[in-house]
Amino acid sequence: MAYLNAHYLKLKAGYLFPEIARRVKAFAEAHPEAASRIIRCGIGDVTEPLPPACIEALHRAVDEMARRETFRGYGPEQGYEFLRSAIAQHDFRNRGLEVADDEVFVSDGSKCDCGNILDILGHQNTIAIPDPVYPVYVDTNVMAGHTGPADDSGAYAGLRYLPCTPDNYFVPEPPREPVDVVYLCSPNNPTGAVATRAQLQAWVDYALRHQSLILFDAAYEAYIADPALPHSIYEIPGARECAIEFRSFSKNGGFTGVRCAYTVVPKTLLAMDDHGQRRPLHPLWNRRMATKFNGVSYIVQRAAEALYTPEGQAQVRQLIDHYMGNARILREALQACGLTVYGGQNAPYLWVKTPPGWSSWQAFDAILEKINVVVTPGSGFGAQGEGYFRLSSFNSRANAEEAARRFATMKW
Ligand code: MLT
Repeated sequence: MAYLNAHYLKLKAGYLFPEIARRVKAFAEAHPEAASRIIRCGIGDVTEPLPPACIEALHRAVDEMARRETFRGYGPEQGYEFLRSAIAQHDFRNRGLEVADDEVFVSDGSKCDCGNILDILGHQNTIAIPDPVYPVYVDTNVMAGHTGPADDSGAYAGLRYLPCTPDNYFVPEPPREPVDVVYLCSPNNPTGAVATRAQLQAWVDYALRHQSLILFDAAYEAYIADPALPHSIYEIPGARECAIEFRSFSKNGGFTGVRCAYTVVPKTLLAMDDHGQRRPLHPLWNRRMATKFNGVSYIVQRAAEALYTPEGQAQVRQLIDHYMGNARILREALQACGLTVYGGQNAPYLWVKTPPGWSSWQAFDAILEKINVVVTPGSGFGAQGEGYFRLSSFNSRANAEEAARRFATMKW
């Protein structure tokens, strides 16, 4: 008899974005006349073509793969040296932050890394998760057996939820009691909030005091426009002793379909073994990658490397400016409707308070039915997300402008 992983049975029906896709498909089938009018502002998926510097690098790399002398088979599981070094140099050392090339692990996505990191952490950890939050943090802990069942609001027993509300500007404060592992995401998905240096310092101080681990998701750091806001947890003194950082090329280089990201595991980061001895996590992650992963393809790593060239950097800037232009258009349109809008200034997501009496899913249904725009219901990100919806600014300019026009016609 083969047994299944019963923890999966505790998960709610579907992962949020496939569930939204299912509902949109059902709507389109029921209303074929509206199907071609649908504008998707739900999932944060990029729409603009890859930067030309990446395209050129991809072509060159494909040509290399076509010749015996330059063909490559398996690459290093941790990533090619050329990319690890470009990342460490440009994203960290050029900004005065200490990260060694071999502390960078190249992967096929931050979603995967955020889930896979649990492989090297103990099952006895108490885990704190902001609410609302990117659903992957919660669901991967459920799958790993770190929780009990969910209650009616969708909150899982055993997780320590950190409410993010307008009162704390959607940035969670460290709890009074110690937790072993905490997830932080800044700029935040879904609220668009960005933690200040002081807020991150409070978290690092907390983590050092309690020997906790911070899992810091910085997938949207390229969207930070305010020079006072930190892009990396390693800008905070002490973070090398308590934090792992996840970064992605999905939202800066437009790699959602290309797949490339990385995780920084400092060699100075320790966690407790079963005998009370503190040991480095770096060799464990290295071992995990070498055993369960065969690396990102050579051609994709060459494309990611091209993002760090001067042309690549300028092209990334254009992409970010494009999406942030959409964010401004959508933000102004929603505000003009009298809605309260958060985020969208240093992040590509707008977090919108639903009109009084509307639940998140009611807002989702009404906006889809009345103006054929897809948003993400805030309750899909956690109990505290009820009463909000998220709008993604990843879209063409024409779609953002059309969505803005349609919002203006909506009877709220
Ligand atoms: C989102 O819409 O939250 C993101 O696209 C999800 C992701 O990056 O995996």
